[in-house]
Amino acid sequence: MYNAIITAVAGYVPETKLTNFDLEKMVDTTNEWILTRTGVQERRIETDMKKNSSDMAANAVKILCEKRGIHPSEIDIIICATVTPDYIFPATASIIAAKTGATNAWGYDIEAACSGFLFALGTAAQFVQTGKGKKVVVVGADIMSRIVDYTDRTTCILFGDGAGALLLEPSEEEMGIKDFIFYSDGNGCKQLYMKAGGSALPPSYETVSNRLHYIYQEGQTVFKQAVYGMAEVSAQIMKKNNLKSEDVAWLVPHQANKRIIDATAERMGLPKEKVMMNIEKYGNTTAATLPLLLWEYEPKLKKGDNLILSTFGGGFTWGSMWIKWAY
Ligand code: UT7
Repeated sequence: MYNAIITAVAGYVPETKLTNFDLEKMVDTTNEWILTRTGVQERRIETDMKKNSSDMAANAVKILCEKRGIHPSEIDIIICATVTPDYIFPATASIIAAKTGATNAWGYDIEAACSGFLFALGTAAQFVQTGKGKKVVVVGADIMSRIVDYTDRTTCILFGDGAGALLLEPSEEEMGIKDFIFYSDGNGCKQLYMKAGGSALPPSYETVSNRLHYIYQEGQTVFKQAVYGMAEVSAQIMKKNNLKSEDVAWLVPHQANKRIIDATAERMGLPKEKVMMNIEKYGNTTAATLPLLLWEYEPKLKKGDNLILSTFGGGFTWGSMWIKWAY
């Protein structure tokens, strides 16, 4: 068995910014409401309709390979987490491989909503630990603007577009992905989902005219579950591995709402200086929040730092992971 270590991280966000002031002109909301209730100031939006999730992901993967000094043809596996695949099938991972020149990679998509990236990382680690993968790319990419209803003020303020990618490699050093705890509960399905477009309710004239191809969320219910789930699972992984708050260098939390993040940090006994946060710039990018955080905070990370990654999202799905940073 090897240790699965992260050897590079990269991110990509589109250039166009959608600010709270822009949203004030689109729906009945205020900058102040959005800031105090969510912590978001602006999000990035891909306005070129010819560009999809795979394009953002391919950009992140190309940057990743350049950083690590490898050619994409050296990648063995690509696992892509997304709720906004280019198509229902085939997997976006295949398209990313084609767009980056990862000619020797096989791959597939994982769909676990906002927990997708963390679940994908846990899955990828198994291939690396068992020696089945030597260069495994985990990418989280979501073009949320394509499924956001910009007439619904309760959801359109939350989400943004972006992609992030990590390279996992085997190592003999006692670093990398140490442990994880994942959960899902399908009883939460109808509190956060897209009502139509799947086999339960295929696309039709009615589904389009009734605006059923957008994100539907019962915000308060999800909020309560998220605060409880994310805080509990983060405390659980610390307890299971005998980690005290002083042992944890960083909390890397899913960026859904600043209030959920604050509650999680408090439960873990962590001061805000140890909490990665970029929700103000990007909003909730679903599967891309965690790699975008690691990408931005990479210069501050030190070898041996204990990181706790933590998520909650549609499904419901939630989980936490303990990583020892390897460079
Ligand atoms: O990443 C996946 C997991 N997702 C999450 O974790 C999201 C969880 N949920 C949330 O973050 C929050 O529930 C929201 C940010 C979505 C909403 O915040 P809230 O504090 O739960 O607000 P609320 O839904 O209880 O609404 C409070 C009031 C309502 O008005 P009344 O009924 O009190 O008159 C809403 O109609 O705020 C109103 N409201 C707004 N007002 C101005 C809802 N959206 C807006 C808005 N601007 N954009």
